[in-house]
Amino acid sequence: NNPFKRAVVLSESYSEATELADIEWDNLGFGFIPTDYMYIMKCTQGGSFSKGELQRFGNIELSPSAGVLNYGQGLFEGLKAYRKDDTVLLFRPEENALRMRQGAERMCMPSPTVEQFVEAVKETVLANKRWVPPPGKGSLYIRPLLMGSGAVLGLAPAPEYTFLIYVSPVGNYFKEGVAPINLIIEHELHRATPGGTGGVKTIGNYAAVLKAQSAAKAKGYSDVLYLDCVHKKYLEEVSSCNIFVVKGNIISTPSIKGTILPGITRKSIIDVARSQGFQVEERLVEVEELLDADEVFCTGTAVVVSPVGSVTYKGKRVSYGFDGFGAVSQLLYSVLTQLQMGLIDDKMKWTVE
Ligand code: COI
Repeated sequence: NNPFKRAVVLSESYSEATELADIEWDNLGFGFIPTDYMYIMKCTQGGSFSKGELQRFGNIELSPSAGVLNYGQGLFEGLKAYRKDDTVLLFRPEENALRMRQGAERMCMPSPTVEQFVEAVKETVLANKRWVPPPGKGSLYIRPLLMGSGAVLGLAPAPEYTFLIYVSPVGNYFKEGVAPINLIIEHELHRATPGGTGGVKTIGNYAAVLKAQSAAKAKGYSDVLYLDCVHKKYLEEVSSCNIFVVKGNIISTPSIKGTILPGITRKSIIDVARSQGFQVEERLVEVEELLDADEVFCTGTAVVVSPVGSVTYKGKRVSYGFDGFGAVSQLLYSVLTQLQMGLIDDKMKWTVE
């Protein structure tokens, strides 16, 4: 019955390698690099997760009738680990745990407790410590998955669930590096609808944006910005990140109202911006405000803080006139990343060793 029976069960026996992995650390992008171990924990529908284990990283076996394959019963998370001296820092992992629990409730799945989630992340990172990039070269991206792994045929929640964590060293998300990205506003296809699942990190939300994203990339854009599906004039989010608009001392971002992913970087940037004296507004933001902004930037675990160089809407291109970061996004990026890397005093206690 074990869908992972081909994996070698290592449990407590892994050794924490101290030597850095032998890869080209200077050219990390956001591509998948297999590492040494993954973490797996299972539970049945109506049950609760009990102790999981580390296994050698490898393919997993699933019934063709698994809930996740047939009916998309799956969630994922994303967080990063940074190397600092002899230790490794995680950024707000309990927030990812809570978000997974909220998503699991929406998707009729059981989920690990916050403690189980954070402990599993720590174990997985330590087992793969040699893959955490040297300071300044990138981070270890941690990808927790929760999926209906049990077999179903009629539409129903799966009878068994698997929580899995794998990791990969990463650098910049966009091929532009830290150069500004160019967005196109999509006004026909939508990412999310009121009452739908846009506000949770379910796998289907990401499949749904691939068509518009591929078309945009074929035309040379970095990514797509979505509008609300009712009025078609309020900003929602970019395929993989949240969006912020700067006008004078006011920074605005679409409020979390069910169709927007509650980003942990988004939440952190709001707090950092307020601590730096900006007025932050979470509200409906009209597309016209974006076109009239002083600066625009995106936030996300993968993208961190990415400046937007231009936005194209119905054939009209608006450029913000920066070669790199604007002053506001530069400041917020710098405070956030220094906190994440343990380089400045973490008064908020956001990092976890
Ligand atoms: C992240 O930023 O961690 C995400 O999950 C977005 C993903 C498309 C890379």
